Parts: sequence; C-alpha cells; structure tokens
Amino acid sequence: MNKEWWRTAVIYQVYPRSFADGDGDGIGDLPGITSRLDALQELGVDAVWLSPFYTSPQRDGGYDVADYCDVDPLFGTLADFDALLLAAHARDMRVIADIVPNHSSSQHPWFQAALDAAPGGIERGRYLFREGRGIDGTEPPNNWRSHFGGPAWTRATEADGAPGQWYLHLFDTSQPDFDWSNEEVREEFRRILRFWLDRGIDGFRVDVASSLVKAEGLPDLDPELDEDLAPYTGQPGVHEIYRDWRALLDEYEGDRVLVAESWIKPLTRRAEWVRPDEMHQAFNDLFDDWDAPTLRRIIDDTLDAFSAVGAPSTWVASNHDTVRQATRLSLPRSERPNGLGPNSTGIASYDDTLPRARALALLTLSLPGSAYLYQGEELGLPEVSEIPDEARQDPTFFRTEGEQYGRDGCRVPLPWEADAPSYGFGPGEASWLPQPELWGRLARDRQQDVADSTLTLYQDAVALRRSRTLGAGHVEWLPGYPTHVLAFRNGNTTVLVNMGSEPAPLPAGEVLLSSAATSTTSTTSTLDPDTAVWMHA
Ligand code: BGC
Repeated sequence: MNKEWWRTAVIYQVYPRSFADGDGDGIGDLPGITSRLDALQELGVDAVWLSPFYTSPQRDGGYDVADYCDVDPLFGTLADFDALLLAAHARDMRVIADIVPNHSSSQHPWFQAALDAAPGGIERGRYLFREGRGIDGTEPPNNWRSHFGGPAWTRATEADGAPGQWYLHLFDTSQPDFDWSNEEVREEFRRILRFWLDRGIDGFRVDVASSLVKAEGLPDLDPELDEDLAPYTGQPGVHEIYRDWRALLDEYEGDRVLVAESWIKPLTRRAEWVRPDEMHQAFNDLFDDWDAPTLRRIIDDTLDAFSAVGAPSTWVASNHDTVRQATRLSLPRSERPNGLGPNSTGIASYDDTLPRARALALLTLSLPGSAYLYQGEELGLPEVSEIPDEARQDPTFFRTEGEQYGRDGCRVPLPWEADAPSYGFGPGEASWLPQPELWGRLARDRQQDVADSTLTLYQDAVALRRSRTLGAGHVEWLPGYPTHVLAFRNGNTTVLVNMGSEPAPLPAGEVLLSSAATSTTSTTSTLDPDTAVWMHA
C-alpha cells in the first residue's frame, strides 16, 4: 500500500443504514457491506468511509452515539466490524470511520449520569449545563439555535421533579454537546481513538470538527454576524485537540488519517485544520453552482489555500446531508434546501437532470487531490422527493414541524438488482425508507457492463484518473474557450466542461471519456451543454 495514499485517494462514503442489508430487517448492516465489497473494488476506490455504526438510539441516523466502542445490534457486532475490515484490507481498500466528538446521544451513560447528578456535580461537567435566564430560569442561557431548527438548549428536570438547568445541543435535543474544556472528555476520546486504531482502522472522519470548543462564557450569537464567526465555530482552542490526536495517530504504523468535516469560510481559514501537525484532509464545499466562472474560482481558491499548508484538496459532489447532485444541480440556486418532499417545486425530470451529474463526476474525478463519492452517485441516483411524511425520519422535519424536509431523500436504500425484492438491498421486501420505481431502471445489475451507463462512466473515470495520475497533477487553465466552459489541463489530460446552454467547439484530438450518454469515443467537433470530456493532451 502506497505511502500518503490519502493525498490522491478516491474515497467512497457508505451510509450503513442504506447500503446493503444482510439480515433482511430493512436496515443496512456491516455484513451487508462486506458482502458487497467486490462492487466497490470494481469501481476502483481506494478507501471506504463508514458513517456511524456505533450503539445509538438512531435519533440522527447514528450521529447520536451511546457507546463509542461498540457496534449497534442493528448493524452487527464487533466481530462483523473486524470481518469487514479484514475483507476490505484483503482488497487493498482502507476503511475510515466517522467519529462524533461534538456530542453524544442523550442515552450515553455519561449523560444519563449527568441528568441524575445535582447541578455542579462532576457528571454535569462533561457536558454544557447552565442555569437559565429570566425569572426562575425559564429562558435558555443564550440565543443559540439548533442546526436542526428550534433552540439549542433543553431544560432538564432535576431529581426532585422541578425544572432545572439547561443543556446545550447544537443539533437535536437527543445530542448533548460535550464540554471540551474538561480533561476527562479529552482523555475519553483518546481512549476511543485507540480502541479503533488498535483494531486496525485506517482513520477517522471527524464530525462537526470546528465546533468542539465554544467561546468562554457562551456569549449570545450576534445575529448580524456570519455563522462562520459564531462563538461555537472555529474557536482557536480546537486546533490543540487535533494536534493532540495527530500525535496519537502518528504513534501507529500504516499512514492513518484524520479528515475534518469543517465548512468554515474562508478557505484559507479552513486550511488551518490541515496544517502539517493537524489533520490530513478537510472537506471542501460541494460543487453547488452550475456556473463555470464560479467553479473556476472555487477550484483556484481551494488549490491555493490547501497547497499553501502542504495539504491535498478534496473534491466532493454529494454526501448524506445534501440533495443528491442528480437533482440538486438543476434546482434554482435560491431553492436548495436540505431536502425535498412531495410538495417541493422546481424539480426537473430525471432524464433532464442526469447529464449535469455525470459531467460533474468527470470534473470531480479530474482534479488534483482526493475525491469523495457518496454511495449511489455512481448509479446516477436522484434525490427521492416522494417519501410520505409518515415515513420520514430526519430530525429536521420534526424540529421544524414539517416546514422543512430533512435529508431522507438522499438516504433511500440502494438498488442492487432490478428484479429482486427491495431491489436487492436485502434478502426480503423490507426497506427502512420506501424505494421509488425508478430504482428498477437504475439498479446496479442493469448498469453493469453497459457501455453508456453511469456506473460504467464512474468505473472508467476512476481507472483513468489512476492511470493518468490525475490526483497527483496540477491544474493549468486553457485560454481561448467561452466563459461558460471550464477548460484546463492536468498533466497529459485536457478536461472540458460545458456549463452553458450553447454547444462549444471541441478541439481536434482523442476523447478519452465523455459524460454524454451516447459514446465514450465521440468524434464530433462540438461539446454539448451539460457535458464534460477528458481528452489526451
Ligand atoms: C453529519 C450529520 C449529522 C450532524 C450531527 C454532521 O455534519 O454529517 O449527518 O446530523 O453532523 O452529528
């Protein structure tokens, strides 16, 4: 396995609930993932990032952890985890786990003990309990809001049954924030990291990495200020934690990595997370605008900011928190919510939206650095908007009383076999979210070895990216193209993406790969709108 593999790696995100179900209960699990690793090997990815599979009441899809050192029975056992890791390593694939250090589940024994303890007790000191404001403390301690809607504070009931202190939760009320100024919390996370590193994990994606440290005194949020300057975002003390973690990882052999989920802006600030003694990678913003000058600026700013600290850039088109790219890129920019539902408007037909998603895949995979794929994008899956209210599970939907749809539509269980029950997701009919009929057409077995399928496009792109060492290359912009075309060279490959509504001239030369569904060796002299090509330079 090559050293510093993460600098150029293609990393595939598995959302375990929705990837493959081994036991037929309708919820994906670790044995299901192991049974489908061959498909990921065929796709050619270097590593798999697993969203949380730890013991959890599943109030936020497992991002509410009750035991950081065990597997939730829904997903299997520690032995299943070991088997998955072994099977991945046998295929030369690394495995990264999600670590959730900002908050635990309210079912975590520490939080249960905190609720049982008196105000001021050491058990409460592991979380952020505060007295309320106003008469009898009936107002929350400050004005912070939960990312899922509503206040970021919930009032606890004291042992005598009276309303008592409040606790902070930047997310759901079932996800209390830890107090990272408490050394006991720091020590506990060192123990957790070691637990998984000792088992052989190749690294961690660090959830909500920029929010662990809160400003002294938990001051009110200035509503005029940008969220990036909030008292719970990017506080200087947070870097100390990751330096400590980096030193811990470096004690282990095998090039283990830390990846920051940090959306902080500007990019020069985000790059502080990946200075040489901190994390290895930080996620980049999703490509959200279908606009060549905007994307060119993002690409330049990203490459500049990250190379200035010696870190690779990462390129991400979709994840488990956003509307899938096959739908998102065609929505008007002003209407890009977290999720879509039966009442959402402006959703174009699937066949009209797929070309942009395919073109974006060729852009993402052509850039130097590391690329992330979200499960199902290689099948061209769209967002599923027709999930009925009663089937929805994401907390946003409930915390906004149905006003905002949550992220369920990008988490619908994957289709593997067109003619099998649950489209081959599991052995029976069960599926924790309803699957749409379109899954029959998009199932993996329908796309396998089909020349113009989206799956084949991804497989070819990942293979060419490797053989032409695009991940280790450089972007050199090419002059002479219309402004709606992104045009650059990366080593011996020319990349062209037409983001306008008019065809653009295509230079003479060998087309290596085209996102157009018709052919991969097009000899035409124009590049159609919403199309990308890779050419031999
Ligand atoms: C994860 C989300 C999760 C949140 C709270 C994130 O940013 O990606 O899925 O809901 O953290 O843990």
